[in-house]
Amino acid sequence: MFSAGVRREVAGRLVVAGCVAAEEEADELLASAPDRATLLAFVARRESGEPLAWITGEVRFAGIPIRVDRGVYVPRGQTEELALRAAALLPDGGAAADICTGSGAVAAYLRSAAPSAALAATDIDRCAVACARRNGVAALVADLDRGLRSGSFDVVTAVTPYVPTDQMAFLPSDVLRYEPRLAIDGGQGGLGVLRRLVVGAARLLHSGGFLLTEIGGDQATRLAPVLAASGFVTITTWCDEEGDVRGLGAERR
Ligand SMILES: C[S@@+](CC[C@H](N)C(=O)[O-])C[C@H]1O[C@@H](n2cnc3c(N)ncnc32)[C@H](O)[C@@H]1O
Repeated sequence: MFSAGVRREVAGRLVVAGCVAAEEEADELLASAPDRATLLAFVARRESGEPLAWITGEVRFAGIPIRVDRGVYVPRGQTEELALRAAALLPDGGAAADICTGSGAVAAYLRSAAPSAALAATDIDRCAVACARRNGVAALVADLDRGLRSGSFDVVTAVTPYVPTDQMAFLPSDVLRYEPRLAIDGGQGGLGVLRRLVVGAARLLHSGGFLLTEIGGDQATRLAPVLAASGFVTITTWCDEEGDVRGLGAERR
């Protein structure tokens, strides 16, 4: 409904604002805005650094549309690998728990990939849980594994906060200004929530079940003692497109 000239103007403003994929973002804003006044308001929000997904209300994750409410962590492309690996490990009619579910992106992907599976999810943030429910995920407001049945899951997925507190300052300024710190700040060494997650996942998984979690830096090495103490074996890691370690998988003995 908008002309090519309007598209050029919007893309040009986004380039000036520092958006890397200005053309694609312009297309998304044009597709979501019902009229010119709304479009201009959307562009102004994006120019101020607000996440595109909060403005359009949606992001694509592993090929499926995920609603993302304002204030809720925006699912990242780097997490798709974790979701794909988890789906491959989930047996027909199996059960998965997505801890720290946020918008519910990973759980929603698992549901689409394995429709016969039973899915549970938790997040400590009420806004995130409301958003996950809007994405069709039966999420609970809970700390990590609280409220979920022990020993009953084939797969546990989690993208916890894992950025070390002393490295938060190096994140892009828009992330720091807009996205919830609770979703990102992993405490000292980034391991505060991760260590508790490993212990909680060991409770949830039956023998032979799998934990898949997102990590960064040398966190795999630093988690090794708690993984071993919690009964995890066959630890594997994978890297993101930049070649940095981004995920860890482990089997419950
Ligand atoms: C990095 S976001 C990941 C969200 C989602 N899994 C994704 O990949 O888009 C981390 C999420 O963990 C939640 N969280 C932080 N501490 C938690 C805790 N102790 N128990 C449950 N959820 C927690 C935050 O509210 C946030 O939604």
